[in-house]
Amino acid sequence: MRTRRFGRLGFVASELSLGTWGLSGEAYGAVYETELERIVELAQELGVTLFETADVYGGGAMEKLLGDTLDLRTTQVVTKLGTVREAPARKCFDAAYLKDALARSHDRLKRETIDVVLLHNPGVQVLREGDAIPFLREEQHAGRIVGWGVSAGSPEVARAALDQSADVLELAYNLFTAKALHELADRIAQTDTAVLARSVLAHGLLVGHWSPNKTFFPHDHRSARWTPDALKYRISQLQAVRQMVGGEVLTMRGAALRFVLSNQVVSSAVLGVRSQTQLRQLVREVGEGPGYLPDDVLSALPEWLQKAGVEL
Ligand SMILES: NC(=O)c1ccc[n+]([C@@H]2O[C@H](COP(=O)([O-])OP(=O)(O)OC[C@H]3O[C@@H](n4cnc5c(N)ncnc54)[C@H](OP(=O)(O)O)[C@@H]3O)[C@@H](O)[C@H]2O)c1
Repeated sequence: MRTRRFGRLGFVASELSLGTWGLSGEAYGAVYETELERIVELAQELGVTLFETADVYGGGAMEKLLGDTLDLRTTQVVTKLGTVREAPARKCFDAAYLKDALARSHDRLKRETIDVVLLHNPGVQVLREGDAIPFLREEQHAGRIVGWGVSAGSPEVARAALDQSADVLELAYNLFTAKALHELADRIAQTDTAVLARSVLAHGLLVGHWSPNKTFFPHDHRSARWTPDALKYRISQLQAVRQMVGGEVLTMRGAALRFVLSNQVVSSAVLGVRSQTQLRQLVREVGEGPGYLPDDVLSALPEWLQKAGVEL
């Protein structure tokens, strides 16, 4: 497992990290209970050191899983705060609320110091005016967290996070959703901000296994993500990605992951695997380097994607 420096926080983390939303069963459907612990253990065996979660995933169950399973000496944890599930479900980024939420996360994760705490999809105003960021800076100063940042749902929020000198930015980054990070890359590099790239497979689309008439179970978030026509169009755009497969790039999912990691401003790619098999596949198919994608593929890619209607 290759590693990268985690921005200006200075620690070194695995270039592949394990996300836990899919494991919670709330995103894509149920995951076998017995599989959960094994996936986290396998990730550690394969060299993953960085684990990404949120206090709301599984109502705290994913933080607890990591708290019960991770080796404290060799791993880092990123968690996210700011979502209240109890009725009325809402976002809440008040310092008083975050203080209690953080204490609960410390307990579940069984860590005196949490490596990174992110605000979970805040709006721009929360970052500009609220008391969330002063609170996180105080916690960092007190040594209860190493760094703080923002999980951004839009380019505007990502920009506002950089304006506030966030240590870490988490955002969607994949072959079909690359523009926001590419536009911010210079600022990110100049400020040495750590980047967690999530949704690297576009929720499974970039694996390239779906028929144009693919449907999802109602409790799978993808059932509401694309209309049937939008999904058909997206699947037709995969033709551009298929051209990336060849030589050491064995699969489309491998190509998609290699694309993310070929961007040096990415500190770690957050994997959304739901089984040990999926984890093994991605770790194997990302290769051992050097390099991720051949130079000729990297230089042809913008044109291939543009022809398919994707802006890089
Ligand atoms: N706002 C936020 O902060 C935020 C938002 C989204 C995600 N995240 C984090 O990022 C993580 C990843 O996000 P994501 O779920 O959008 O990731 P993703 O990697 O784009 O998609 C995950 C899906 O890809 C498919 N997949 C994964 N590995 C595979 C393999 N080897 N072969 C075939 N299919 C494979 C699985 O689909 P199937 O279920 O069909 O097998 C899985 O559910 C989440 O777990 C979460 O921790 C954070």
